[in-house]
Amino acid sequence: MPELRAAAHAGPGADRSDADPRALDAVLAGWRERADAALARALPDASIGVEPRRLHQAMRHAVLLGGKRMRPLLVYASGALFEVAPLVLDAPAAAVELIHAYSLVHDDLPAMDDDALRRGQPTVHVAFDEATAILAGDALQSLAFAVLADTDSSDAIRVDLLRTLAQAAGVAGMCGGQALDIDATGSGTQLSVPALERLHSLKTGALIRASVRMGALCGGADASALAALDRYAQALGLAFQVRDDILDIEGDSQTLGKTAGKDLAQDKSTFPALIGLDASRARLHELGAAMRAALEPFGPRAAALHALGRLAIERDR
Ligand code: IPE
Ligand code: IPE
Ligand code: MG
Ligand code: MG
Ligand code: MG
Repeated sequence: MPELRAAAHAGPGADRSDADPRALDAVLAGWRERADAALARALPDASIGVEPRRLHQAMRHAVLLGGKRMRPLLVYASGALFEVAPLVLDAPAAAVELIHAYSLVHDDLPAMDDDALRRGQPTVHVAFDEATAILAGDALQSLAFAVLADTDSSDAIRVDLLRTLAQAAGVAGMCGGQALDIDATGSGTQLSVPALERLHSLKTGALIRASVRMGALCGGADASALAALDRYAQALGLAFQVRDDILDIEGDSQTLGKTAGKDLAQDKSTFPALIGLDASRARLHELGAAMRAALEPFGPRAAALHALGRLAIERDR
């Protein structure tokens, strides 16, 4: 990954902010483009005459119209630590974004958060209809595993990738977290902080951890590197949702591309609701320190992971 080496000047204390920010931005933009291209290739054709066209259109609407591509970027950044060719990482990067996009389509359904705006567009069930939104989510999930199964790696790594994404998407990950979220919504009782951390770690953290792990698995990372990266990803995953909860209060719908103020209106269990905005910001600060500590063993090679950690904490959309 020569471009990443150019972005990170080696030397004492060069493990995060000493990387040339413009070079790093260019690397991230390049990865974003790769992810977009891989997603566009994987999605079904929506041209006239190719049926079921409406479902194809709904899937493309869910995936291609915006999104920060945080999870694909984590796959590329984690793989880059082990000098994995971006070409190999395209499949896991696209696969995790397909799962994420499906989770958003279903999260927005009337039976869940009942949202009309996503990524600055009408949500899939509004732009199409509820049945199509359910099917688009289902089909995006299947597509994710089909794409992942084609990763250009050994059979052993491919099975590890499939297991990692399946576990993160399922009952021990995103779906489990969403179930806890729904159970806690409108119940009138606030969760404890540990219970809310568990909920967030599952509904949002699991896919983020899987993204980081998949990049590292493609590079044949050893157990100690996987463990250090998992500490980073756990902190990042929780921080990402804490920031999401703060933005629901402080952000505006235009910038966010989704309706602000929904969590309070729906009596959601969130960090600001439970511990307040100031304590939530303090928690973000602690999580930032945890990320930096976890990445320490990797030195300046982890510049992109540091940058993504900062993005999770400082983002305004
Ligand atoms: C939104 O995720 C849902 C959460 C898990 C907080 P993102 O903030 O990554 O949404 P997009 O992909 O950029 O739209
Ligand atoms: C969603 O959490 C997490 C998912 C698994 C999709 P939120 O419900 O807070 O996400 P937004 O705010 O709608 O993006
Ligand atoms: Mg939700
Ligand atoms: Mg929601
Ligand atoms: Mg939210």
